[in-house]
Amino acid sequence: MLQNRRILLIIGGGIAAYKSLELIRRLQDQGAGVRAILTKAGSEFVTPLSVASLTGDKVYMDLFSLTDESEMGHIRLSREADLVLVAPATADLMASMAHGHARDLATTALLATDKPVMVAPSMNVEMWGHPATQRNVATLARDGIMQVGPAAGDLACGEFGSGRLAEVPEIINAVENFFAAGSTRPLAGRSALVTAGPTHEAIDPVRYIANRSSGKQGYAIAEALAALGAKTTMVSGPTELEDPRGVETIRIESAREMLNACEASLPVDVAVCVAAVADWRVNKDAENKIKKNGGGPPALELLENPDILAGIAAHANDRPQLVIGFAAETDNVIGNAQAKLAKKKCDWIVANDVSPETGIMGGDTTTVHLVTGHGVEDWPESSKSDVAHHLASRIADELNGPAA
Ligand code: CTP
Repeated sequence: MLQNRRILLIIGGGIAAYKSLELIRRLQDQGAGVRAILTKAGSEFVTPLSVASLTGDKVYMDLFSLTDESEMGHIRLSREADLVLVAPATADLMASMAHGHARDLATTALLATDKPVMVAPSMNVEMWGHPATQRNVATLARDGIMQVGPAAGDLACGEFGSGRLAEVPEIINAVENFFAAGSTRPLAGRSALVTAGPTHEAIDPVRYIANRSSGKQGYAIAEALAALGAKTTMVSGPTELEDPRGVETIRIESAREMLNACEASLPVDVAVCVAAVADWRVNKDAENKIKKNGGGPPALELLENPDILAGIAAHANDRPQLVIGFAAETDNVIGNAQAKLAKKKCDWIVANDVSPETGIMGGDTTTVHLVTGHGVEDWPESSKSDVAHHLASRIADELNGPAA
């Protein structure tokens, strides 16, 4: 699976560093070539000699080594790899990465690389759970850094919980999946905008109009596009979901805020409007909480919200090459979707069959039909994650043309 793949392994200074020796062996078993950078702290746990013997190469340790720099500068070291794998990634190493420090060879190579990076964190449970670490984890995810683990279990420090280095087979699996799914990263250099979740339209400071959208499908699509290499921005209404990995997530509440955030994110190559935008908003939302004062319920005057999908599709100069909408339909699924395609002047509609027999909003599986100007594709019932990956690869095919 990893034949001829070049992996730059950065070994941080944690007790789990001993597992990096096994990791080198197993990566080589799969055909990968492994070159290693050992941090100073890492060398307290495994010896440079062990690492060099296993990699069959010298082990790189010192940023200011004259011989190293003349043979293989840190820039070249960071570029001559298909993947940079940090295992174990300590709390300190991850903090340095999140803040862009370049204090030693490992952090300098991580800052200088133009290659995908995967971290396998390993630390004490409290260190892992610390808000500072979690902030760094979120920053790294936003920067597109992939992560495998940590696992939960007994920790070397005698405590129990999350923070164990993922097992070697799991790390190998993550590396293989990365190369299988995204080795060509067909959307590298492309940009994508996704809208997701519901919108909330204020009635007064405490009440709002909303809908039941969970946001799962939009989040899955944003993550799938990012996984194929697209620089992805997601504008999301209120949801309970975590920001998807590798996606710049902008949280908004109302349809008009969503519209503004989308406009600010253009131009992009592809826009996928998955959000269940509230169709109406209250004409004038009250500044203060509306009280029951015996006069009966207030009359709410509703105004139609801007159609974000149609607006993006109508852009004169920076219309995305591909504009995709979603439609949730209970009957005449294809006919309604085709009408929507024509009305909103988008390129594709992903028609979601939400009739009671198939599934409901908020569920994990879905039955969709891809309606384009050229016809209709019926996709089998599948998970929202599978739909997202399928759609992302269809988008890549479309943007790259038939030869890709
Ligand atoms: N959409 C949008 N902005 C709106 C309304 C909808 O961007 N104000 C987008 C949605 O994100 C989705 C598509 O348009 O991509 C759905 O169209 P819509 O006309 O709202 O269809 P339904 O929600 O299915 O509602 P209806 O069938 O009632 O028209």
